[in-house]
Amino acid sequence: MPSAGLFITFEGIDGAGKSTHIASLADAFRAAGRHVTLTREPGGTPLAEKLRDLVLNDAMDPLSEALLMFAARRDHLQQVIEPALQRGEVVLCDRFTDATFAYQGGGRGFDLGVLRQLEHWVQSRPGSEQLRQPDLTVWFDLPPSVAAQRLAAARAPDRFESQPQAFFERVAAGYAARLGEAPGRFARIASDRPKELVWQQVRQAVEQRGWLQVSGAAA
Ligand code: TYD
Repeated sequence: MPSAGLFITFEGIDGAGKSTHIASLADAFRAAGRHVTLTREPGGTPLAEKLRDLVLNDAMDPLSEALLMFAARRDHLQQVIEPALQRGEVVLCDRFTDATFAYQGGGRGFDLGVLRQLEHWVQSRPGSEQLRQPDLTVWFDLPPSVAAQRLAAARAPDRFESQPQAFFERVAAGYAARLGEAPGRFARIASDRPKELVWQQVRQAVEQRGWLQVSGAAA
């Protein structure tokens, strides 16, 4: 009998340091015998990657930005995420809808009611009352002042990375608000710590939910 699919998303402001931990978690699931689909938003399909390029680089109004994020998400859900979950895989997705609420809602100040409507349209599932939502969202919570120092050393910034610190303060508040609406779905990871300690928190959050039991491993 195939195991149930698992949908885990990763969030945080730019510079919060998600990438290495997502890769480590993929390795841990594979070591436990699970098939892993590693993907990202905006992106994850040929169409959604084209939309990513537009939305990260071309000037546009906030509604267009929100619509493109959700258009990319719709294609990604249909082409990649839902089929992988149906096959019983672990889907690890670098950003999802919480990023839209945090960046477009919090950062840009865009209407949350419109975002909720788009979320409803895009994440509805035939034959189910419930929207498709992550089983777990790992939120790398890093003070924007620390992230700004990390980003200063980074490559050419895109339309979001080039925003001032005040923007990221609003993004972080947007994430906190989403956590407040669905606390059971979130693991808040204090990310202003050495990488090894951050990884321990990530692993613990997954193990606590009973999803990473390697046979013979210590409890
Ligand atoms: P990111 O995931 O940080 O990729 P990289 O590490 O390659 O820079 O970049 C994606 C950017 O898109 C990030 O700045 C957040 C932004 N974003 C939104 O504004 N809204 C969304 O809904 C999503 C998914 C991302």
